Amino acid sequence: MQPRRAVAVRRHHQTAHRRGPRRPPARSHHMTTPAPTATDPARGMRTALAHQLTDPADPWRPALEQVPRHLFVPSFLEQDNNHRWRTVTADTPDYWQTLYSDRALTTQLTDGTPTSSSSQPSLMLDMLHALDITDGHRVLEIGTGTGYNAALLACRLGHDRVTTVDVDPDLTRTAAARLAQAGYLPAVHTGDGAAGAPHRAPYDRIIATCAMTSIPPAWIEQATNQAIIVTPIGWGIARLTVHHDRAEGRFLPGEAYFMPRRTPSTPPDFAALHHTAPRPTPSTAPLGALQTLRFPLSLTIPGHQWCTWTNDDTKAVKALGLWTPDGSTAHIHADGTVRQTGPRRLWNLVEELHEQFSGTAPAREEFGITATPHRQWAWLDDPHGPGWDLPSTTTT
Ligand SMILES: C[S@@+](CC[C@H](N)C(=O)[O-])C[C@H]1O[C@@H](n2cnc3c(N)ncnc32)[C@H](O)[C@@H]1O
Repeated sequence: MQPRRAVAVRRHHQTAHRRGPRRPPARSHHMTTPAPTATDPARGMRTALAHQLTDPADPWRPALEQVPRHLFVPSFLEQDNNHRWRTVTADTPDYWQTLYSDRALTTQLTDGTPTSSSSQPSLMLDMLHALDITDGHRVLEIGTGTGYNAALLACRLGHDRVTTVDVDPDLTRTAAARLAQAGYLPAVHTGDGAAGAPHRAPYDRIIATCAMTSIPPAWIEQATNQAIIVTPIGWGIARLTVHHDRAEGRFLPGEAYFMPRRTPSTPPDFAALHHTAPRPTPSTAPLGALQTLRFPLSLTIPGHQWCTWTNDDTKAVKALGLWTPDGSTAHIHADGTVRQTGPRRLWNLVEELHEQFSGTAPAREEFGITATPHRQWAWLDDPHGPGWDLPSTTTT
């Protein structure tokens, strides 16, 4: 039995966007979409979006008004209901309106899976606000992608204060060229962002736009004392303050999911595992637990991935496959049974959490992270309360 494109469907959502309640727009008027003009094809649309998302006093409004997103996203990819991707360019109807709306845009596919995007502007703003930047700060961005966020930072702070890193050399090459074309010259570096960018340290602010499973020690080493780190961890965005060699803080409210930091991972062959797995056992958690508890699960089973098998006619989920890079797998059926293989009983961890939270996860902002040189853990309510150790992030 092959999973029915379920991984791709899920990964379709792995572009930086938010699904929780939105911050209400600063003004309630609808965005107007003036026709592009030859001199500045999108000035009016940019201004309208900036006004939709920010108050007049917002320090990021001028950057939003000035930085042309279309230079960084000359085309993007959209998936139709049949999961087919199509490229949208400036000649495609709706390009301009979509580009200057509050939408995350997929910009790169690798083997059919999104591997880079331009994040949802309101989510980018939430993260920039959480960074609490003031003039003179030196900022490190992990996940250059299109370069658009780096351009907003450089517009606000000046080129020499901004360093941006992406693991993908094609992306950094293109982003650096587009940044220069737009008139911004931040330092663009190719490498694993988990290593930071030591040659430009120290940093007052560190922002990541790909999801991590824990805080890389290099970030804390390269941060100034009292630096702020804003980074997606699992299905949430953590905001930590650095105190010497320790970083601690809570998650921001609201749901957000970013593309994971790139590490190789292919789905296990669940069909073959069927023959070697122990007999199925009864499950005490419903299939839907993976969805309702996805944020705490992203902390307790870091780096887990899953796929689903659906009924061809009804589209109802028949089974779920769950796995982690250490070779642990769980194959859960809608009939309430589960087969598990590998070093960890992954579904038991889901069942424990389902029981602990009675099926409903506490709000994100009740969770926090503490990172020390010796240990990192996620906690609920306070750093000394119930907690889950996070894996250490090694650099590639
Ligand atoms: C959501 S996109 C970034 C959006 C970007 N900030 C922008 O404004 O367009 C996430 C990016 O993280 C990058 N990435 C993934 N793993 C990484 C790693 N280990 N180190 C640095 N960048 C990484 C991806 O290549 C991708 O471009």
